[in-house]
Amino acid sequence: MKVSLSTQANTCCPQAFYAYGTYKEDGTPNFGLFCWFSFCWDGERCVMACIGGDKLTKDRIRATGRFSANLVSEELLPQAYYFGNTPGYNPDKMKGVDVAISKGQVLDVPVLEQSPWVYELEVKRSIPLDGSDIFLCRICNILVDERLAALGLDDDGPIPLDEAKPVVGWGGGAFFKVGERLSPTKPR
Ligand SMILES: Cc1cc2nc3c(=O)[nH]c(=O)nc-3n(C[C@H](O)[C@H](O)[C@H](O)COP(=O)(O)O)c2cc1C
Repeated sequence: MKVSLSTQANTCCPQAFYAYGTYKEDGTPNFGLFCWFSFCWDGERCVMACIGGDKLTKDRIRATGRFSANLVSEELLPQAYYFGNTPGYNPDKMKGVDVAISKGQVLDVPVLEQSPWVYELEVKRSIPLDGSDIFLCRICNILVDERLAALGLDDDGPIPLDEAKPVVGWGGGAFFKVGERLSPTKPR
């Protein structure tokens, strides 16, 4: 037995969260929180990022053609939640933010040191929609925490999510832990 939900309900759109980092016009970093993020193929593995309305992150992605996507871990959540609830158009947003910020290794983008993994992204194409824009991005680099890399990652191996501790949830702001590894399992 099932019940129907509104087709516009956010409830059944669980996602991981990423803090997108861009540099402002004055060269200082800005971060916003985003969850409409996924992957696709366009001759290479790409990222799709959907940003609604007008926001500083979108303005800066348009102006520079690049940004970082920093996976939000349990440890980063309080900071990331602030990034998602304070508009970058407020010039004081990043004042007093106490997180270590470095630079990408390939692109000139700000990176959150505490994030378990970070994509350095370059926009290949932007697709304007009714009320939002999709940015189709080339993955120019993936920065992975040394601690995770030491566990023996290779190109096809799974990243140990139980070690990375990403949070999942939905845009309305309910967050959950990711649990233990279940696979490999036998298909039924
Ligand atoms: C949990 C959460 C998830 C969010 N996900 C998105 C998203 O996927 N797309 C979007 O356009 N805005 C999203 N937002 C809103 C932005 O984070 C918010 O507008 C923020 O101010 C953007 O930063 P900026 O103003 O510095 O650009 C989310 C906010 C929260 C709290």
